[in-house]
Amino acid sequence: MLDINKIRKDFKILSDEKAPIYFDNACMSLKPNTVVNAMNTYYYEFPACAGRSAHKMGDKVTKKIKETRTLIAKFINADSQKEIIFTRNTTEGINLLANSFPFKSGDIVLVSDKEHNSNLVPWLRLKEKAGIILKIIPGNNDNTFNLENFKEQVIGAKFVSIGHTSNLDGVTNPAKEIIEIAHKNGVLVHLDAAQSIAHQKIDVRDLDVDFLSFSGHKMLGPSGTGIFYGKQKLLEDLAPFMVGGDTVESTTYESYKMLEVPEKFEAGLQDYAGIIGLGEAVKYLDQLSFKEISEHEIKLNTYITEELRKFPKVKIIGPTDPVLRGGIINFYIENTDMHKFAIILDEMAGIAIRSGQHCVHSWFHSKKIYNSARVSVYFYNTMEEAEIFISNFTKILKII
Ligand SMILES: Cc1ncc(COP(=O)(O)O)c(C=O)c1O
Repeated sequence: MLDINKIRKDFKILSDEKAPIYFDNACMSLKPNTVVNAMNTYYYEFPACAGRSAHKMGDKVTKKIKETRTLIAKFINADSQKEIIFTRNTTEGINLLANSFPFKSGDIVLVSDKEHNSNLVPWLRLKEKAGIILKIIPGNNDNTFNLENFKEQVIGAKFVSIGHTSNLDGVTNPAKEIIEIAHKNGVLVHLDAAQSIAHQKIDVRDLDVDFLSFSGHKMLGPSGTGIFYGKQKLLEDLAPFMVGGDTVESTTYESYKMLEVPEKFEAGLQDYAGIIGLGEAVKYLDQLSFKEISEHEIKLNTYITEELRKFPKVKIIGPTDPVLRGGIINFYIENTDMHKFAIILDEMAGIAIRSGQHCVHSWFHSKKIYNSARVSVYFYNTMEEAEIFISNFTKILKII
C-alpha cells in the first residue's frame, strides 16, 4: 500500500504545514526533492557540456545523460537507448514527428475528436503546408473511443496520432487494439502519452507502438523536459527538421555528414540539468507501483464524483464511471464561468485546480460548452484534501 504520509515528506512543498492542496497534476506534477537536488548538483558541481569537452566535468555530464537515456529506455521497455530522443515536451515530440516524417499531399492522418491542441495543431498545419487530409474520429456519446468508427476510417489512412489518456476527461483509449487494427491496415501509429506516462505502465514493445511522445514535467520531472520515442528503423528513416551543432559528424563549406539516431534529432546544447532530473523522476516512479497509484487515484475520484453528483447543476465531462476517468474529474455548472469558481477556490482554501478549455478548444467549441473546472489528483493527494475540496465546493456554490 502507498504510504502517503511518508511519500509527502519526499516533496518539500508538501512537507510544509501550509502546503497547498495541489489538484492540477494533469498540467504539471510536483517534483520530489531527489529531482531538485540532482539538478542543483549538476549546476553546483559539474555544469558543463555533454559529448564535446574532454575534461572531467564534461565526462561526468556525458555519463549522466547516457545513464538517463538508458533508464528511460528501460522504463518504457524500448529495444535500445537509441530510440530515446530528448525533447522539451510532448508538443516538441509531435512537431518533430509531423515535420520529419515524409508526409505527402493526400496522405490521410487520423486523430480523435478530443485531442489536446498539441496533437491537433501540428496536423492542421500539415494540412495547410503539405496537403495532408486530416480526419477526426468521432467518439461515443460518453466521450469514450469508438473502435467501430476507427475501423472504418483507418482503411486507406497513412498515419494515426492518438492521445493515450485524455487530459479532458481522463479516459484511456484502447491503445493496443488501435495499434493492432492500424498495423493490420499498414498504418503507423503515434501515441501521445503526456497523460498516461505518469499513471500506468507503458511498454512500447508490448503495445508495438511506432512512435510515442511524453513530457517529463507531468511525471515528477523538471519542467521543459520530454521524450520522443520511435522504433529505431523508423527513426533512421526520418529527416530531422532541426539541425546544427550536435546533429552532425562533420561539415565542409558545401556539405555535412549527419550523426545517427538519436543524436541527429538533438540539435544544440541540451537541458542537461533537466535531463538528469528526469532520470531521478524515473527512479522515483520505479519504486512505486502503478497499480497502487491507479487504485488511489480512483478512490479519490470516486469520492469526489459521488459528492459532485449530489448537485444536479454539476455536469461531469466524460463517462459517469470514475474508474474510466483515472485521476481526472472535469466538470462545469451551466451558465457559470468556471474560471471564477477556480479563483475563489484558490483564494478561499488554497486549492489549485485548472479552469478553462484545457487546450482542447475544438471539443468545447463543438459541444458549445464555455469552460470547465478540472480536478486532477496524483498519488501524493489525500482523502482529507478531497474532503476539504468538497466542503469548499459546497460553500462556493452558494455564492457563485
Ligand atoms: C494529452 C496531452 N497532450 C499533449 C500535451 C502537451 O504537453 P506539453 O505542454 O508538455 O508539451 C498535454 C499537456 O497538458 C496533454 O495533456
